Amino acid sequence: MTSKRRLFVTTALPYANGPFHTGHIMEYIQADTWVRFQRMQGNEVHFVGADDAHGAPIMIAAEKAGKTPQQFVADIAAGRAQYLDGFHIRFDNWHNTDGAENHQLAQDIYRALRKNGLIAVREIEQFYDPVKGMFLPDRYIKGQCPKCGAADQYGDACEVCGAVYAPTELKHPYSALSGATPELRKSEHYFFQLSSDRCADFLRDWTQAANAHGQPHLQTEVLNKVREWFATDEHGHGGLADWDISRDAPYFGIEIPDAPGKYFYVWLDAPIGYLASLKNHFDKGQAAQHWHAPSRTTQTFEQFVADPVVEQVHFIGKDIVYFHTLFWPAMLHFSGRKTPSQINVHGFVTVGGEKMSKSRGTGISPLKYLALGLNPEWLRYYLAAKLTARVDDVDFTPDDFVARVNSDLIGKYVNIASRAAKFISQSFDGRLGYSGPTADLNDAARALADDVAAAFEAREYARALREIMADADRINTAFDAAQPWVLAKDEARRAELQDACSRALAGFWRLSVLLTPVLPALTARVARELFGLDRDFVWSDATALPLHVAPYQHLMQRIDPKQLDKLFEAEPAAAAAKPTPSSAANGKPMTSAAPTPAAQDAFITIDDFAKIDLRIARIENAEAVEGSTKLLRLTLDVGETTADGQPRLRNVFSGISSAYKPADLTGKLTVLVANLAPRKMKFGVSEGMVLAASSADETAEPGLYILEPHPGAKPGMRVR
Ligand code: MSP
Ligand code: ZN
Repeated sequence: MTSKRRLFVTTALPYANGPFHTGHIMEYIQADTWVRFQRMQGNEVHFVGADDAHGAPIMIAAEKAGKTPQQFVADIAAGRAQYLDGFHIRFDNWHNTDGAENHQLAQDIYRALRKNGLIAVREIEQFYDPVKGMFLPDRYIKGQCPKCGAADQYGDACEVCGAVYAPTELKHPYSALSGATPELRKSEHYFFQLSSDRCADFLRDWTQAANAHGQPHLQTEVLNKVREWFATDEHGHGGLADWDISRDAPYFGIEIPDAPGKYFYVWLDAPIGYLASLKNHFDKGQAAQHWHAPSRTTQTFEQFVADPVVEQVHFIGKDIVYFHTLFWPAMLHFSGRKTPSQINVHGFVTVGGEKMSKSRGTGISPLKYLALGLNPEWLRYYLAAKLTARVDDVDFTPDDFVARVNSDLIGKYVNIASRAAKFISQSFDGRLGYSGPTADLNDAARALADDVAAAFEAREYARALREIMADADRINTAFDAAQPWVLAKDEARRAELQDACSRALAGFWRLSVLLTPVLPALTARVARELFGLDRDFVWSDATALPLHVAPYQHLMQRIDPKQLDKLFEAEPAAAAAKPTPSSAANGKPMTSAAPTPAAQDAFITIDDFAKIDLRIARIENAEAVEGSTKLLRLTLDVGETTADGQPRLRNVFSGISSAYKPADLTGKLTVLVANLAPRKMKFGVSEGMVLAASSADETAEPGLYILEPHPGAKPGMRVR
């Protein structure tokens, strides 16, 4: 590759109705790694993101929070930096889709599409909430499933029988917002004519075509999916349908020109937000700092996005492919703009093989991860080690995470530096020296760097890291074979010792260069502190040989599995329910004081209490949990049976192993919180919680006591 590439890179714009979850972080890590790799190659990159501000759910959430939608979105946006900085994700700009740039661009693009004859207006009939005074999106209409009769089903599909239907088919429909019975009302909607031959022909070509750089626009798996969307039956039915791009007021969105009371559906202006964030970046005068050729500093935003040399690369998840492979290229093309070069689709993060779910406690909170002091580069490494160019899901498994990071990053990579640098500092004053020719070192480095570069370029990060770790294995093997600890005892073999250590450190240098896209902070320290560079690594450093090394400084810790246990532990119960350590230490009984007005708020009603389903449970089995010092695994009979009449036993993990041996518990009765949401833990799913008494400090005397009913109680009895 001779001339430098010019890249415009984005990630999907997250809805501004909640904080980031690990799925978002994975997408950003995937894109950030690619961007860092491109920059190390000397390519010009503009990497932007933004909050997706519009739509009914955000409008409704803002109303519930008692804020304007603008304020609501601004508050969410204010929380973004701690995640991005925390995981070393370096966007050049972060904007939002309610900015002036997006209003302007969305309206311009719409006008161009209309001029091009691709906008149609049709009347449609929809449910309207007469109390809220608004048309209801499908997910805000509930009712009885028309197929199985299940109550409280959403307007598009039944969660009980799986039937898919239109909201108008629901029996006894009601508005999830007000409870009112919705009325059918007519309203004019604006459509983008995706079903037109012009659009269909363009998209059929575009989705299969390669970009100006010879890479396909879409991954093969994605293209196969898209082909299904084009398919029509023998009657010519199916294929692409026109796209409803308007919503009626009240709506938080961008007004449609010449259509009072009509707003763009959020998915029309959301991808235009990519351009808006880039424009904002240019207008702030920040873009020029990424340019290499000074002559280009005069390029405006519009010139840049129209420049045929510029590659536009989007990273997105598998759930939003339709919008990005059909609507978005068609909108761009038919408004006279350049289309994307690559749509890079990734799968979903799962945890222990299951979908992440906050209510079941199976997600990993990125902020909690950081707050616990877990190293962000462990997660970057682990996710990169699992990412390929395919759309497969990426599973986070705690044991695998610990094993992978400890064995690869610490055992194979960091250890090279700590072992070899010690001898060089002690005996050679930091000077590296190679006996004999070093051409072999250079050749090996060049071949490896080329292979790894090809893998990063193709988003085959798993392959890149496998090759890097195979090199680490070779470096360690050669170092061990040289037996430096033996050489160090023999004054006559100093040159051999220096050579063995220098080759190992040259290897460590090379590995560090190649790992920089994944581990930017660690390798910046390696470059500056260990090897004395006054800059971060660039790709061409891979074939250079270091000549000096500073005394080794601690680089990275092993993961202590206990830290991970904490990551998966439930949040502590509400503070009001717990005596404070100080009051417990004073020994004052908590119950004797008259409730103060503040304490009054801590009361619950009998209805609140009735929500907790407490049951007598028999401990059928208790056993230690491999890898946990705190937990026992309990198998409980709570008097439940399966559909075919078999006893159904529950699996519950209980943090009582400091106080009980398994044998003390088997056969005993106790009390279970039976309707606690099941929670995925490192060792399996826990289906409830056993009650135990303890002082505020469980580790101090007098310890921990599980509850046991008086004789006569039977498994399954309700406790109230
Ligand atoms: N606002 C839209 C995108 C508009 S782009 C013009 C949206 N937002 S989102 O917050 O729901 O998702 C943002 C990105 O996160 C998407 O690419 C989505 O696929 C990705 N992920 C959401 N959950 C995910 C996982 N569990 N795992 C990996 N990525 C996931 O969609
Ligand atoms: Zn049903």
